[in-house]
Amino acid sequence: MSSPKPPRPTPKPIKTIRTIKTILIAAISLDGKISTNPNKNANFSSKKDKAFFRKEVQKAGVSILGSKTYKAAKSAGTGASPSGLIPKVQHIVMTRTPEKYTKTTASTTFTTSTTSPAILTVDQNISPINPKKQRRHHATTKTPTTSPAPLTFTKDTPRKILKNLEAQGHKTAIISGGSEIYTMFLKANLVDEMYLTITPHWFGKGIPLFQGNPNINFELYKVKKLGENEILLKYRR
Ligand SMILES: NC(=O)c1ccc[n+]([C@@H]2O[C@H](COP(=O)([O-])OP(=O)(O)OC[C@H]3O[C@@H](n4cnc5c(N)ncnc54)[C@H](OP(=O)(O)O)[C@@H]3O)[C@@H](O)[C@H]2O)c1
Repeated sequence: MSSPKPPRPTPKPIKTIRTIKTILIAAISLDGKISTNPNKNANFSSKKDKAFFRKEVQKAGVSILGSKTYKAAKSAGTGASPSGLIPKVQHIVMTRTPEKYTKTTASTTFTTSTTSPAILTVDQNISPINPKKQRRHHATTKTPTTSPAPLTFTKDTPRKILKNLEAQGHKTAIISGGSEIYTMFLKANLVDEMYLTITPHWFGKGIPLFQGNPNINFELYKVKKLGENEILLKYRR
């Protein structure tokens, strides 16, 4: 007599596996704030912390930030980096009105992305030149899907942004803030690691690291002193 067949395993629901790793990086005051004012560039952490952030962003090659952080960084731009952004890094700026940025940056070229109509990309390498030359230059400038322009404005969802980056071959993306962007990625369960630098400041008021109560369930895996006064905490899922 043949033995009864074992029950068939219940098929698992098909899950889309994300291959791009996301790291949220922030500097915070002792009372958990990332800034005192959304319009002001948060510049309170040490040189060592800034160098650490820069290195991580350059290593990843992609930084995702909110429009308020972008504007604040731009207002603090210097001669070396007029945009206030890190050179040679693809910056993805989240905004509900990407089209607004076509009007404010007349000297740059905008092309709509081939992967998403909600995206506008800006080639920052084009310098303002005379209108005749500029027309010629614009006509030959394209944004290839494999080599995206360094600055992109988008109203895509966090998930869609990551999917596009994956399709472009990126392995890591840094979630650079501010609070609204951190919270959105956490709530969507799209943060793999968090690097938080605790600085010796107490703001009393200002912008919290996260808004409301995002779903945080991380393990601390590294603690490192940064210079004399700061501690870097590394968390992962
Ligand atoms: N200490 C740190 O490590 C650190 C890091 C980063 C930033 N900061 C500081 O944080 C402050 C800014 O933080 P914040 O929280 O006020 O602003 P933010 O997160 O930088 O930007 C908020 C903006 O993101 C866009 N946005 C929000 N939800 C969106 C969605 N679902 N889809 C598309 N776009 C969306 C909106 O842009 P629109 O209004 O254009 O639609 C919104 O106004 C600045 O002072 C900055 O310097 C500090």
